[in-house]
Amino acid sequence: DKKAFKISKLLSFQSIPHSTRDAVTIAEGYSAEVLISWGDGLFADSAKFHSDGSNTAADQQRQFGDSNDGMSLFEINNDRLLLVVNHESPNAQYLHKHGGELVTSGEDTLKSQASVGISVVELQRSQQGWRVNTASKYNRRLTANTPMSISGPAKGHAQLVTKEDASGSVVKGTFANCSNGQTPWGTYLTCEENFDDMFGYSSQAGDKITDEMALYGVAEKSQYGWEKFDSRFDLAKNPNEFNRFGWVVEIDPFDPTSTPIKRTALGRFKHENAAVQLAKNGKMVVYMGDDERGEFIYKFVSDERYKEGDDRHNRQLLDHGTLYVAVFDGGKKPHTGSGKWLPLVFGQNGLTPKNGFHSQADICIHTRKAARIVGGTDMDRPEWVAVNPKTGQVFCTLTNNNKRGSDKLPVNAANPREKNLYGQIIRWREQGDDHTALSFSWDMFLIAGNPNLYPPSDPRHGSSNITKALSFNSPDGLAFDRDGRIWFETDGKYSNTGDYLGQGNNQMFVGDPETGEIRRFMTGPKSCELTGICWTPDDKTMLVNVQHPGEAGDSTFPNNSPRPRSSVMMIRKNDGGTIGS
Ligand code: FEO
Ligand code: CA
Ligand code: CA
Ligand code: CA
Repeated sequence: DKKAFKISKLLSFQSIPHSTRDAVTIAEGYSAEVLISWGDGLFADSAKFHSDGSNTAADQQRQFGDSNDGMSLFEINNDRLLLVVNHESPNAQYLHKHGGELVTSGEDTLKSQASVGISVVELQRSQQGWRVNTASKYNRRLTANTPMSISGPAKGHAQLVTKEDASGSVVKGTFANCSNGQTPWGTYLTCEENFDDMFGYSSQAGDKITDEMALYGVAEKSQYGWEKFDSRFDLAKNPNEFNRFGWVVEIDPFDPTSTPIKRTALGRFKHENAAVQLAKNGKMVVYMGDDERGEFIYKFVSDERYKEGDDRHNRQLLDHGTLYVAVFDGGKKPHTGSGKWLPLVFGQNGLTPKNGFHSQADICIHTRKAARIVGGTDMDRPEWVAVNPKTGQVFCTLTNNNKRGSDKLPVNAANPREKNLYGQIIRWREQGDDHTALSFSWDMFLIAGNPNLYPPSDPRHGSSNITKALSFNSPDGLAFDRDGRIWFETDGKYSNTGDYLGQGNNQMFVGDPETGEIRRFMTGPKSCELTGICWTPDDKTMLVNVQHPGEAGDSTFPNNSPRPRSSVMMIRKNDGGTIGS
């Protein structure tokens, strides 16, 4: 393939081929090893992992959770770090001894609920790299049953009140924890994404599914069957419990006794991640995607300014501010344009009693409805958002959208392809490089496609930085390193046939945001997703998550495991240098 870009000075390793092996492969000069896997003990007294699924719910409560996704590292000192990891969903076929998708007992349900949420785990530096310290006082599991509080405009709202909680301000647990964020005041943000998967009706749903609930994907039956054994998840009995999920939750990893807080000012939707950015004027900005076909990109701007070192003050910042939805208008050239941020504020832009909004709390709880009314641009499944530290440009992975071009979702400038199987990475520059600005200009970093099947003239070929050798679908995980390299991971189809010929297993790329060049850095084992990216403070170790290996029943990752295990991979350069350099 002919290169359409300038050669990057940022990238020095050789791109690797796609892979269909049941193993992690990584660029020459690097190594990848397992740091921790689903079921490993977090505490000195944790039960040993049993590879036949026979660990109990109580065991799982003190073991590393399942399906590790977004994660962050926090520094204790030069030799000690705290790793905070999301556990998105149960791999039911491997979690339960019976191997079924649905829970069959109260014990199964508790185990399933203990497999999701968050792990906080201390890492210690050793000669062989970072190691888990099971004796740490910081280690903690948060699950679907850990008490949390609700703050912000929706706290105490009637639609958050349940039989268990008359105050509408205390809730049990977090789950569907997809990606994440990290604040400058040392807290972790976990994002609740596909929370609807956990709710269902014990009796016929009939007409009980309201329009508002349908907007969040409620189905008659849940994905895991919790509602059969835990009435909290039975929408026939507890419809309001559903409103208590779909939030960004703030966690203090340095205080294992702290109560996590659901920050309702950031809106309720299928939160992917929370890209936290300090604006030039000192306000905190949080960029967020809502991962569903035809949903929106949002940003939150705090009312008050960040004050370095004033924790008490900073920990209120995410409760008071303005939530905006993005509009992407087309420009003169294809795949470029301008945009604006529309405020989701009670009383403005149709967010009034006439349309069912009686307070800011209503907007926080029914954010998707509000974004539609004000006229946000429906996108091709916004996944991660990340800010380039060198330029301030904001990037978002739009993973795919096979319904684009249908009557309800006509193509638009930023989502230009019908039946978009491959996805694109959009980026924008805020007016005046001010993250609180209300307008921006945008273009595409790349449009994924398959040059193995289509000529450059076909939109399915993808942009000029996509070649036969560098073909992939469904960009998802996204982060920038300190030097400004863009790293992205895929969560797509891994059949390696048909539309996906030559794309192999899910994988990770590194790119130069200025030249547009990308290189393949890492590939995952069979039927997994690669997700989660973070670096140690010295940039010499990178952590990446292998999530749900063998979801198609075809993997023994990581170590000839009878049941495959989601795992955190520790990546280092063999010469001890900076990752990516
Ligand atoms: Fe959990 Fe949108 O990925
Ligand atoms: Ca994702
Ligand atoms: Ca995805
Ligand atoms: Ca996932």
